[in-house]
Order: sequence, then structure tokens, then C-alpha cells
Amino acid sequence: MPESMSGLKRTHRCGELSAANVGETVTVMGWVQKQRNKGGIIFVDLRDRSGILQVIFEESDCGAENFAKAEKLRSEFVVAVVGNVTKREGAVNENLATGDIEVRASALRILAEAETPPFPIEADSRTKEELRLKYRYLDLRRPDIQKNLMLRSRITTTIRTFLSGEGFLEIETPILNKSTPEGARDYLVPSRVHPGCFYALPQSPQIFKQLLMCSGYDRYFQIAKCFRDEDLRADRQPEFTQVDLEMSFVDVDDVIDATERMVAKVCKEAIGLEVSLPIRRMTWDEAMNRFGSDKPDTRFGMELVDVSEVVKGCGFSVFTGALEAGGSVRGINVKGQAQMPRKKIDALTEFAKGYGAKGLAYLAVLPDGTYKSSFVKFMTEDELKALVSAMGGEAGDLLLFAADRLKIVWSVLGALRIEVAKQLDLIDNDRFDFLWVTEFPQFEWSDEEERYVAMHHPFTMPMDEDLPLLETDPGKVRAKAYDIVLNGVELGGGSVRIFQTDVQERMFRALGFTDEKAHEQFGFLLDAFRYGVPPHAGLAIGLDRFVMLLVKAESIREVIAFPKVKDASCLMSEAPNVVDEKQLEELCLRIVKPGE
Ligand code: AMO
Ligand code: AMP
Repeated sequence: MPESMSGLKRTHRCGELSAANVGETVTVMGWVQKQRNKGGIIFVDLRDRSGILQVIFEESDCGAENFAKAEKLRSEFVVAVVGNVTKREGAVNENLATGDIEVRASALRILAEAETPPFPIEADSRTKEELRLKYRYLDLRRPDIQKNLMLRSRITTTIRTFLSGEGFLEIETPILNKSTPEGARDYLVPSRVHPGCFYALPQSPQIFKQLLMCSGYDRYFQIAKCFRDEDLRADRQPEFTQVDLEMSFVDVDDVIDATERMVAKVCKEAIGLEVSLPIRRMTWDEAMNRFGSDKPDTRFGMELVDVSEVVKGCGFSVFTGALEAGGSVRGINVKGQAQMPRKKIDALTEFAKGYGAKGLAYLAVLPDGTYKSSFVKFMTEDELKALVSAMGGEAGDLLLFAADRLKIVWSVLGALRIEVAKQLDLIDNDRFDFLWVTEFPQFEWSDEEERYVAMHHPFTMPMDEDLPLLETDPGKVRAKAYDIVLNGVELGGGSVRIFQTDVQERMFRALGFTDEKAHEQFGFLLDAFRYGVPPHAGLAIGLDRFVMLLVKAESIREVIAFPKVKDASCLMSEAPNVVDEKQLEELCLRIVKPGE
């Protein structure tokens, strides 16, 4: 029978005790990590979120009744122990913060018994993730996850303190919203009161924070839950958290400045990392040309080289064909890898095809100065020499080339560069490379929709000098948009917003919205702008990603208490689930399964 804790009050957490407490009588409560019965003496490792403490039961200290209870203890029982802190008699345990002390118990209460858990509750678990997630409440007892979540809590506290110190107000915005089908797919919630109508869960508080600027709140922030029905990856969840902020009467530099000071503060307080400010900036053009990515990992080189000019007259039709079709030929130099086996190059070719490449041309400069290459027979000695020289190639190097539309070349080589660096272990995992990527293109052509779509969102301000291009050459318009990147991951992004009605209308037109459609979707924002809108700008940081990178976790699931898996389900609660026919009726909904 479980006992009550009545009359007992916890005095310390397990991990808070140290040699400074020797001689004190303490009351600790927690979970039994392990019980070892050595005959006349029982050792119990007691665990709570602060750490593990060794407790010793001997009949002479605690009496026969307590000793008999201690004999029954098993892993994960919840107990309260009263005892005396003493210097450890046996060997000091260097692995425990409390390793040089122990508590000699005088009383024990068993507050709850426990069944044997389906996997051991310990750090560095080798348990399969599916099992961990099914029993997440047990997984969350493990010290490494507890460390992550405790750090996450410290980080949000730091952020709140920092931003309120800077004059930001924390304001909540609604979760049940109107669907505005720009961006990712919405999660919809059917309305009972308005049959056939749906709320959309917010993909971000974007419109509301802009309205708050219209309403004069000047500086807003929110640690906001966002929902996007997109394909999941290691750094994406259907619901995730943004540190969302917006400022009035500012331009690009003001948002960048506030954000990077916040980021530096968090890094310092969370992991003792000094981020030197200002963080380096790079335009989108430069990032794409040098790294083939708008979120470049700058912890290693292997930058892209444009060899289009060098190969334009050569005899290799893969190269010349791509150029004649308006494309580009670019390469990366994998230093010292000329001897990479053919099998591995073939595997890289397959990898490249996953990013849209038609193939991957290679040229190995062998140590004796000869070449091994998929196109050596199509080029003259001089052409090969010029190509190698343009690539900075030396004996021993492996050169990899993609020839295609520039967009594909970037995406292929950008991904290949990372893949090769991972395979060759070129990335220094102790580095934290922050970078701002600025001057994003305003629009991106969508082959699918056959129109320009907003690269960031339709409220992003074009750069002043590019405004005239909105009608004449939309593809060339650069936006006052910026992303903050850490180690090749997009940590956050934002922009200066359009606040002039006429510019906003031109933007909608460029995006192919009719005036009616723009008003139907964003009418309240456009209306609000008619009543006095301040210039404003903002940004949102992906909090889950930030914590993930700071603790060097493999996935954001390691820093979210109750994450979802790839198919957006929760293995523990089994959400989403089928609902009662009655609930559907109330909502005037009927399920038609695909194919019915
Ligand atoms: P954006 O769409 O770039 O901007 O999102 C900002 C940041 O949120 C994080 N993020 C995600 N994290 C986990 N799972 C996801 N599915 C996910 N999607 C995005 C990323 C990203 O950089 N309203 C604008 C911001 C603004 O303009 O102020 C916005 O939402 O780290
Ligand atoms: P093929 O002429 O298709 O046999 O290709 C000759 C070599 O060029 C092979 O190594 C292909 O992988 C490579 N290749 C084919 N298409 C491309 C491309 N678009 N870009 C780079 N290399 C390619």
C-alpha cells in the first residue's frame, strides 16, 4: 500500500546536496534508479530532475520496519527518505555531482510502486525512438531529455527578460483564425456554429502582429505556437514554436541588431558561448553563388565555382547543351579525394539525382598528373587544364560538376557539398557559425502554379531601388528580407513590411491576386492600413531549432516534450483519431475516404 507524505516536507532536490550539507538531516523525494541489497546494507540511487543521490539503509540507522521496506524497493518506485548527509565511505563516484556524499536513511516511505518500465530510464538510451515516444512520459524521465527541456525553459526565460528589457510587450494572438492559403498548408478546425465553415490554425502570428503595430503597441513579442501541415523532417514539426517579434518605426538594421543581441544573450546564458557581434552578413546572391544554398553551412569551404565561361566552347555536350539552354556549369573541388572509388562517386551521382541532377560529371586529378574522368575523351588537354585551373585543382583533387538550369545546379551542388563534407568528416562540430542572409528575391517562380509566389510572404517590402521592377521584371526584385542561419540551418527569418497601400496592391497584382481576392483574404489588414500605419518590420526565430542546435541534438524531437512523428501522429496519445459519428453530425461533416 502506498504511503502518504503527510508530515514530511522535501528539503532538497537530490542533486542539490553536496559536501557542504554534511551533518544535516534532510528529506529527499524521488524515483529509485537502482536498489542493491548487499545483505545487511542496502544501497539506493535516488533520482529526481536535479540528479542522482546515493542513499544507504542499515537496520541500525533506520530500524527493522524501514529496512524491510527498503528491501522491497524496485526501479521507479517513488519514495521519500529522511536521513543524514555523510561523507561517502566507499569509493567516491566521480560520475555523480553528489559523488562524494551519501544519505544514511533514518526513515523511508514508499509513495508509489511502479511496474518495470519497458526500457531503462537512463542517459544515452539505445532504445528505439518509436518505443521512447510511445512511452514519452517515461522517456521524459531520462536525464538527457530533462537537461534539454530544462535548458529550453532557461532559454525562454532569458528571451522574455531580454525582450521586455528592450521595451517589447508580450501579447497573445488567436489560435482560431481565418484561412489564408499563402504559404504552407493550413490545419483546419470545423466550426459547429457555422456549418461548412472552418477556422485555420496560425502558421505564424504574422497578420496579427502587423495589426498590433497599426494599433500602436510599437514593440511586440510572443513565444508562439505555429501550425503547418507540411512534410516533416528532422528539423520540422507540424506544430512548433516561434520567438515572434515585430517593431515599429524601424528598418532592416534595427531588427537585425535587436535579434542578434538576443541570440548572443541566449547563447551566453544557455551554453556559455560568446557570439561576436555584429554577426556576418551575406546577400542571398553571394550565398547562392558561393554555397548553392540560402542557408549555407560556413563551417567548411568547398565553395562552388562557376566554370561556364571556361567550358563554353568545349566538346562535352552535357556542358555545352546546358549552357545553350540558358543554364550554367559549376563545380566543387573535393580536396585530396582523387582516389575516391567509382562506387562512391556513383553513390554521389545518385544523391545528386535526388536533387534534380541529370548526372554528375567528375574529374579526378591523379597524383601523376593524368586524369580520370567521365568526360576526358570529349575535351582537349588544354581545355582540361583550363578547367582544373579554374577549379583551383591540384594533383590529388576530385572535381564534381553539375550542368543544368542554375536553380538546379545550386540545389545539387549545395546539397552535395554538405553530403561530401559529412562523409569526409570535414565539419567541426564544436563551431557555431552564425550568418545573416539578406536581400532575398521578392518572388520565386512556381512551375506548379505558373505564377510568381512570394518567397517570404506577400507583406514583405521590396528594396527601395527595386520598386520600379515590380511590374517590369518581378524576378529581379530583391526584398528587405533576412534570415539568420546557424551551422547551415535556417534559424529564423523576417522582413520589413509594406505599409503603403499602393505598394501592397502592386504586390498582390504581381502575385496574380485580383483585387477582390486580395480583399477577401487580407481585407482587414488592408483596411487597417487605411487608418494610419507606422513603418514596421519583424522576424521570427524557430525556438525548437535554436535549442536543438545549442544542445547539438540530431532532431527537434529531442527538445520538444511531446513531439509528433513523420506522419504527424503522436505515438503516445495516438492523435489524430477517428471521432464519434455524433461529433461529425454536429459539425455537419461526412467522411469520404479516398477512392470511395
Ligand atoms: P518563417 O516561415 O521563416 O517566418 O518561420 C520562422 C522560423 O520558424 C521556424 N520554422 C519551423 N520550425 C519547426 N518546424 C517547422 N515546421 C517550421 N517552420 C518554420 C524556422 C523559421 O526560420 N511570420 C514569418 C516571420 C516574420 O516575417 O516575421 C515566419 O513565420 O526556424
Ligand atoms: P552521359 O553523356 O549521359 O553518359 O553522361 C556523361 C557524364 O556526364 C556522366 O558522368 C554523367 O553522370 C554526367 N552528366 C550527365 N548529365 C549531367 C549534367 N546535367 N550535369 C553534370 N553531369 C552530367
